[in-house]
Amino acid sequence: MSTSQALRDPRVVRVLTRLDRRNLESFGEALSLDTWSSDPFAFQEQPLSVTAEIGDLIYLTARAARATRAVDFATSVGMSLIYLAAAVRDNGGGLVIGSELVPAKVEEARRNVEEAGLTDYVEIREGDARETLADVGGPIDYAIVDGFQGTDNGWIGESGSSLALDVLRLLTPQLRSGAVLVNDNAEPDYVAHVRDPGNGFRSSWLPLLSQPPEATRRKLAESLRRRPADSPLATLLPEVPGLELSVRD
Ligand SMILES: C[S@@+](CC[C@H](N)C(=O)[O-])C[C@H]1O[C@@H](n2cnc3c(N)ncnc32)[C@H](O)[C@@H]1O
Repeated sequence: MSTSQALRDPRVVRVLTRLDRRNLESFGEALSLDTWSSDPFAFQEQPLSVTAEIGDLIYLTARAARATRAVDFATSVGMSLIYLAAAVRDNGGGLVIGSELVPAKVEEARRNVEEAGLTDYVEIREGDARETLADVGGPIDYAIVDGFQGTDNGWIGESGSSLALDVLRLLTPQLRSGAVLVNDNAEPDYVAHVRDPGNGFRSSWLPLLSQPPEATRRKLAESLRRRPADSPLATLLPEVPGLELSVRD
C-alpha cells in the first residue's frame, strides 16, 4: 500500500488509506476477468482509482493552479475527487464537479467524500459525462480525464474517438487559460490531440514509478501474456506508468 505524502488532514488521509488498499487489488481483479467487457457496469466492484502518487500530484498541481472550480471525470468511488476537493478547500474554497455513470459508485463516492469532511466542496453528477459535463457553471481551473471505457477497438468508441477525447472536447470551451489537465490512461487520440500545437495545449507525459505491489504486478503481467497480441486490452495500458499533464494556452 502507498500513502499520500502531501495531505495532512487526518480525516482525508484515513479515507484514502482505506480506499487505497482495496484499489490496488482491483486492477488485478479487472485484468483477471475471463472475458473483457466494454460495459462500465461490469467493473462496478472495481474502483480502478488513482494511486497515491498520482493523487499527490493532483493535489499539489491543483494547489499551484489555485483551482477553485475543478472537474473529475470519472469519479468511481471518489479517490481522485477527494484529492481534488482537498486542494480546492485548501485553496480557500470552491467546487469540484464529479461525473460517474454507475449509480452504486456514485453512492459510495458520496459516502467517502462525507467521511473525508469534503461534502461542502463537491457535487457529483450521475450519468454519462458526455451529457452531465456539458455545462459546469463557470471557467474550469483543473480537470482530471480518467473515464474508463475499453472497447473491442481498444479505446475507440462509437463516436470514432476515445471517451477521454470526447470529454476533453466538451470541456475545452469551458477551460480557463492556464487550466491544468491530467490523464493517466494515455488514450492515443487524446494524447495526440493535446500535443498538437494547433489545439491550444502544452503537454507532456510524466513517468511516475508508482506501482501496485509485486504480487499484483505479477498477476497483471501473467494476465496480459495469456492474451493474443492483438487483444484490445494490450492497448489499454500505457507503456510507462505515469500521466499526461497538459496546460491550456
Ligand atoms: C478509472 S475509473 C475512475 C477512477 C477515479 N478517477 C478514481 O481515482 O477513483 C473510470 C470510471 O469511469 C466511469 N465511466 C465510464 N464511462 C463513463 C461515462 N460515459 N460517464 C461517466 N462515467 C463513466 C466508470 O464507471 C469508472 O468508474
